[in-house]
Amino acid sequence: MKAPETWDPPKIDPEIVLKYDRPGPRYTSYPTAPHFHERFTCEDRIRAIRRSNEIAPPAPLSLYFHIPFCSSLCRFCGCSVHRTKDRGISESYVDALLAELSSLGNLLGKGRKLEQLHWGGGTPTFIPAGLLGKLHDAVFDSFETGASPEIGIELDPRELGESHFEFLERSRFNRFSIGIQDFDPRVQEAVHRAQDEKATVSVFERLRKLDRASLSVDLMYGLPLQTARSFSSTIGKVIGMAPDRVAVFNFAYIPEQLPHQRTIDAGLLPSPAEKLEILGMVIGELTSAGYVCIGMDHFARPGDELAAALKEGTLHRNFQGYTTKGGCDLFGVGATSISQFSNVYSQNIKDAPRYIEAAVSGRSTVMRGIELTGEDLLRRDVINGLMCRSEVRKNEIEEKHGIEFDMFFKNELENLAPMEKDGLVSLSRYKLEVKPLGRLLVRNIAMVFDAYLNRAGCKASFSRTV
Ligand SMILES: C[S@@+](CC[C@H](N)C(=O)[O-])C[C@H]1O[C@@H](n2cnc3c(N)ncnc32)[C@H](O)[C@@H]1O
Ligand code: SF4
Repeated sequence: MKAPETWDPPKIDPEIVLKYDRPGPRYTSYPTAPHFHERFTCEDRIRAIRRSNEIAPPAPLSLYFHIPFCSSLCRFCGCSVHRTKDRGISESYVDALLAELSSLGNLLGKGRKLEQLHWGGGTPTFIPAGLLGKLHDAVFDSFETGASPEIGIELDPRELGESHFEFLERSRFNRFSIGIQDFDPRVQEAVHRAQDEKATVSVFERLRKLDRASLSVDLMYGLPLQTARSFSSTIGKVIGMAPDRVAVFNFAYIPEQLPHQRTIDAGLLPSPAEKLEILGMVIGELTSAGYVCIGMDHFARPGDELAAALKEGTLHRNFQGYTTKGGCDLFGVGATSISQFSNVYSQNIKDAPRYIEAAVSGRSTVMRGIELTGEDLLRRDVINGLMCRSEVRKNEIEEKHGIEFDMFFKNELENLAPMEKDGLVSLSRYKLEVKPLGRLLVRNIAMVFDAYLNRAGCKASFSRTV
């Protein structure tokens, strides 16, 4: 069900928004990854997979392959990366992925169809094209695909050789996410990511010629030396390239957790007020060019599936961000990858060499995870409603979880009162609605429902919400 305002870009009131600038999760999962624990083991995961096989009809599959390698590290990077110039590691890594895929295939019941496949990183094309081809073919030999599978890959234009193009041409990939971040050479230098503009545009045009479903571009705001004026030039160039989707990520700056981010000169970072000005410019320019705000950081053309899902109320969120394939069981393959299925999250060993060793010798690759309680599932539904549909209908939650909404969430509703006064949410007898301004601060609104965050002793560190 579409809430009419979800199409409207918000009017930003800096005085209100800046009041809410604080560290908070991005809610690609609930409970968030810092609350996964090592008491969750491989046996728990196997039991959960067997449970998922018994559901009729079985959920379709989404497979995520994590390829963590990068030959040089961008100073801002918040992804799970293994820096190395030694391409020799590719072969043993692909062997490990194939071993994990094969044991997953043996555990999953017959007839489970692949609806979504995503290769992310790191930089998937760090791996030579021949090995990528071997992995690609093994996936499609192992699983039958559904009617319209989404098959996506993250591409760094600086790491795409001729053989990679040949691989992409013959592959089944129909979605490409292309990393740009910022075309400004001064910003690129400050983040240690030299990326020639002409070469990037030419890679983009070549990918377009492959004539596949969707091209998406990744940008980032909040990087050193960025201003609304300077970044507006990058946005203009990207609009000129006409991608189907644009992700403009809010730079997650967590130097206390990510030592390489400490190499950024903090004095060069835009202030929260400047970041807000940049965000206002981004929203204004992209929506004027016809893009729709999908949710946190994401924009799409009105004809794109994400925009349609937003309109229909069928948008979901997982570790890759927003998705239209919400009903899938998600299995992460590779170092550090996270699976989400049945009522569990399970995460693999983070260190790539240790992951390879475990996978190829047939030992458990599980590092930690969590089995969700009834209350976790309830709170996750509320948080997903806020993040993906900008509303939570009390009767739907009550029917699904057997609670009385206003009673169960008495404290949370009280804590939302100041947000209602600030125009972030509206509370009624029937539903809780996120207003256009609240969509910019939806992490703050979701945080009200996060029982782990609000527990004494929670030491997890998160990036700031503005
Ligand atoms: C996993 S990276 C892979 C992309 C590819 N390696 C590249 O750099 O082109 C996907 C995207 O995450 C985003 N990203 C990386 N670090 C981030 C951070 N600290 N905060 C927010 N977004 C970040 C960037 O926009 C990047 O393109
Ligand atoms: S942004 Fe991409 S290329 Fe840069 S370090 Fe992160 S994963 Fe590697």
